[in-house]
Amino acid sequence: MKKIGVLTSGGDSPGMNAAVRAVVRTASFHGLEVVGVKRGYDGLIEADFVDLDAHSVANILQRGGTILKSMRSDGFRTIEGRKMAFKNLKAKGIQALVVIGGDGSFTGASIFIEEFDFPIVGLPGTIDNDLVGTDFTIGYDTALNTVVEAVDKIRDTADSHNRLFVVEVMGKDAGFIALRAGIGCGAEAILYPESEEDLLGAIVERMNSGGKRKKLSNIIIVAEGAKEGNAAEVAAELKEKCPGYDIRVVVLGHIQRGGSPTCMERVRASQMGLEAVQGLIEGKRGVMIGIVNDHVAHTPFEKAIKNQEKIDSQLLQMIDILSI
Ligand code: F6P
Repeated sequence: MKKIGVLTSGGDSPGMNAAVRAVVRTASFHGLEVVGVKRGYDGLIEADFVDLDAHSVANILQRGGTILKSMRSDGFRTIEGRKMAFKNLKAKGIQALVVIGGDGSFTGASIFIEEFDFPIVGLPGTIDNDLVGTDFTIGYDTALNTVVEAVDKIRDTADSHNRLFVVEVMGKDAGFIALRAGIGCGAEAILYPESEEDLLGAIVERMNSGGKRKKLSNIIIVAEGAKEGNAAEVAAELKEKCPGYDIRVVVLGHIQRGGSPTCMERVRASQMGLEAVQGLIEGKRGVMIGIVNDHVAHTPFEKAIKNQEKIDSQLLQMIDILSI
């Protein structure tokens, strides 16, 4: 193997640049050439390539976003698009790929490996933390810190005005941001997509019961894909059922995807980027590099994207106990 490609795909996440840097520098260390593919899989289809060397990735470790740009590609979902991608890879002499992205990106990678027998390894780049085979995805820790910093500020004003705030965080299909951010900012409750219980009913009961300590401020964290609806819908229901509360809504939105990666993010992304290249050199393909219990783990794409990891019930229970 003489030349590898690297791309970032799907929703961007803080730490992607640190991962790109690690891939490029590790490849250079081992005497491999590296090509950056711009705009995810669309860049493969359109041959939007940029040659990278150790110098090209200087001063990006600390930067949010991705210097390679990112996209959710419609073209790569078609066989014509994938054939064009393969043709362009061959023409450029790229013999293997590192794909940094989430479940959609790995689904595309799996199909491509099967159709064209092309070596690809993945790095988990998403703020959602919804991949099996890694304790933390690249971007999750930074997103959590962004949420906690914002909610701390909301708590100040909530407390001054004795208000209840419904704060919406990202997570269309997964509640991992809501869960840990909820603990980190001392939320009174969280609502998340995977729940099977009537959590909103329980919140209403708790808010209206005289038994609980009357709190000066309340923060309810709602994942955008929560069963009970988004923050606006949840707030509307609470206004109707808990008339004694002064309720406001904040949607944190895409600020969760930006910003400088935390130190742990940089460390993990660097470790994973290094392992991706060494894995390709050893002949690995079709796997996502993750970190489980502080050790590097290799998980087949098919398993990584299953999102079968359940929300940790002990962490959930903590929110109830610690917010009494
Ligand atoms: O997958 C990451 C994510 O940030 C999700 O949490 C969110 O639902 C989605 O991307 C938003 O996507 P977009 O930036 O395309 O609106």
